[in-house]
Amino acid sequence: MEKKILSQFDKVIRGGSTLLIRQGYRDYILGQEMAFATKIPYQFYPGVSLLKGRNVIPCVPIEGSRDRMVIKHYEHGGLFRKITRDAFFGNPRPFRELEILDQAHQRGVPVPEVIFARTERIFGPFYRGEISYKEIPDSTNLLEYLNRISEMPVEEKIAQKKKIIGPLAEAIKKMHCSGIYHGDLNIRNILLQNGIEGIRIYLIDFDYSKIKDKLALRERIKNLARLNRSCEKWKAPISSTDKLRFFLSYFRGDRLVESNLRKYVRQCSRFHWGHRIYWKLFG
Ligand SMILES: Nc1ncnc2c1ncn2[C@@H]1O[C@H](COP(=O)(O)OP(=O)(O)OP(=O)(O)O)[C@@H](O)[C@H]1O
Ligand SMILES: [Mg+2]
Repeated sequence: MEKKILSQFDKVIRGGSTLLIRQGYRDYILGQEMAFATKIPYQFYPGVSLLKGRNVIPCVPIEGSRDRMVIKHYEHGGLFRKITRDAFFGNPRPFRELEILDQAHQRGVPVPEVIFARTERIFGPFYRGEISYKEIPDSTNLLEYLNRISEMPVEEKIAQKKKIIGPLAEAIKKMHCSGIYHGDLNIRNILLQNGIEGIRIYLIDFDYSKIKDKLALRERIKNLARLNRSCEKWKAPISSTDKLRFFLSYFRGDRLVESNLRKYVRQCSRFHWGHRIYWKLFG
C-alpha cells in the first residue's frame, strides 16, 4: 500500500511535519508549507476564495498554473468539538484520505486530484493535519444546486433534475462497484460541474471512508440511507419520484441489487428517530 502511494507522492519529513506531496508539486508546496499551517488569515492572501464547510475552507491559486487547490484542515465535529478542536491521535487521517482518493481515482471514480496531505506533531501521539486537492472549477454542491433550481418554473425544474439523476446514480454506483464505502455520503459531498459536455458529478470528502475488494449489500444500503437522511436533514427540495428515479437508475442492470429492490427502498426511507432528535438538539 505504502509503495503505491510513494510511487506518485514524495514523502518529506521536516521538523515535526510529515508531508506526502504529488510529484511535480514538491518545491511549490514545500515553499508554501508555513502558509498552509493552521490559523493563517487566508482572506488576506491574494486570489484566495473561501468555501464553506463545517469550517471555512480556503481555495488557493496554484502558482504557475490555472488550477486552484482547496486546503482542508481537519477538525473535530460533534459534541467534543470545543474541547478536542484539531488534535487527533492514531493512524493519521490526512494520509488515509489521500490513499482512498488516490485509489478511487485509479479505479475511475470521479474525485478531485490530491495535491498533498500533511501532519504536524503536537506532542506524543497527537497531531493536527491538512489535505489538499484541486478545486473542481465552476461547481456547486448538490444541495446548493437543488435549492437553486427549485426557483425555476416547474417544467424546467423537472428537466434539470432528470438531467442529473442518471450521472449521479452512475457516479455513486461506480464508487460502490469499485469497493469504496464513503464515510459521509451526503448531498453537500457531491459536486456538480456544468460543462460543455454536460453535467459531471464529483464525489468529495472521503474522511472515514473505506476501500475493500467488494462492498457488501448492507454497506451499499447504509451509504444510500445516509444520503437519503441528508436530504431530509437539510430539507432538500426533492420528491419521492426523484428518489425513485434515482434508485431505478442505480439498480439498473445489477442483478444483486434488482433482486433486493424492496429491501433497499424500505431501508433507505425508514424513519430515523435517533438522527432526528440529534439534529433538533445539536443542529
Ligand atoms: N475540490 C473542490 N472543488 C470545489 N468545491 C469544493 C471542493 N471541495 C469542497 N468544496 C466545497 O466546499 C464545501 C465543503 O467541503 P467539504 O465537504 O470538504 O467540507 P466539510 O467541512 O466536510 O463540510 P461538511 O461538514 O459540510 O461536509 C462543499 O460542499 C463544496 O461546496
Ligand atoms: Mg463534507
